[in-house]
Amino acid sequence: MKEQNTEYNPQTFTAVMSNRDFSRLSEVIYHECGIKMSDAKKVMLEARLRKRLRELCMKSFAEYCDYLLSPKGIENELFQMINEVTTNKTDFFREPRHFEYLVNTVLPELLRMTDLRTRRSLNIWSAGCSTGEEPYTLAMVMSEAVLQYPGLSFMILATDISTKVLEKAVRAVYEMERVETVPLEMKKKYLLRSRNKSSDLVRMSPKLRSLVRFRRLNFMEGDFGMREPMDVIFCRNVIIYFDRQTQEKLINRFCEHLAPGGYLFMGHSETLNGLNVPLVSVGSTVYRKPL
Ligand SMILES: C[S@@+](CC[C@H](N)C(=O)[O-])C[C@H]1O[C@@H](n2cnc3c(N)ncnc32)[C@H](O)[C@@H]1O
Repeated sequence: MKEQNTEYNPQTFTAVMSNRDFSRLSEVIYHECGIKMSDAKKVMLEARLRKRLRELCMKSFAEYCDYLLSPKGIENELFQMINEVTTNKTDFFREPRHFEYLVNTVLPELLRMTDLRTRRSLNIWSAGCSTGEEPYTLAMVMSEAVLQYPGLSFMILATDISTKVLEKAVRAVYEMERVETVPLEMKKKYLLRSRNKSSDLVRMSPKLRSLVRFRRLNFMEGDFGMREPMDVIFCRNVIIYFDRQTQEKLINRFCEHLAPGGYLFMGHSETLNGLNVPLVSVGSTVYRKPL
């Protein structure tokens, strides 16, 4: 009989995740980033982390868990694991009604509250910004709004837990098909084509890039490191991955950072119904902190 070649090859080897390893990993993920891994997510987690096993030339998830939980793993692997397990789906002008609401309702209301001549810069936070499409959309929309309100200044803070998405966000280079939802006039104004005519890449203009400040921030951390209150927070399509208890805690922390009269935008499938939070619903998944 021909002997089988059983030599370990990281490229072809397929490790299987035991229930025990799944529960060890789920615990770390919940503890570190608040993301709840239901049993239905096991197959997805296994597939996403196999890539890390391959890169680390590891033969089993047990070996991976032991490494992840060691002091060296906590220092070097934890952020890599988080990069793999977070879901980063996003788009330019995602849920476009929110941007209309921002310009047509929120801005006039915030400006009514204070005099533009004495008003500090408007602070907007894209919390869970993924690869940058949301904060750059905000930057485009706000740059247009400023033309209506001369003297209005703003700053956009964009944060995410994943270093991988933040790197892409800072680079600000996207495939043409990703920017299809950007209105033509804004494309002409704020996007740059590559000098290489055959390339299908575009980059956000330097002016637009300068309007957004990116920073890594994990919502599970004790201190968000914010020095100024926020007037508007976009935290869309993030809390769906958290359980009710974590959602309530996080929204209350956002409220601490919201200025009185400030607004919180959530994703269209996310409701704050039943959560004990000091916010008033003012529109479809838009909430406001009372004055
Ligand atoms: C689905 S994306 C949403 C992107 C954008 N807000 C949108 O609606 O298009 C969710 C983002 O939340 C981030 N995230 C998940 N858990 C987080 C945590 N504990 N702290 C900070 N960001 C987190 C993920 O890395 C991911 O990029």
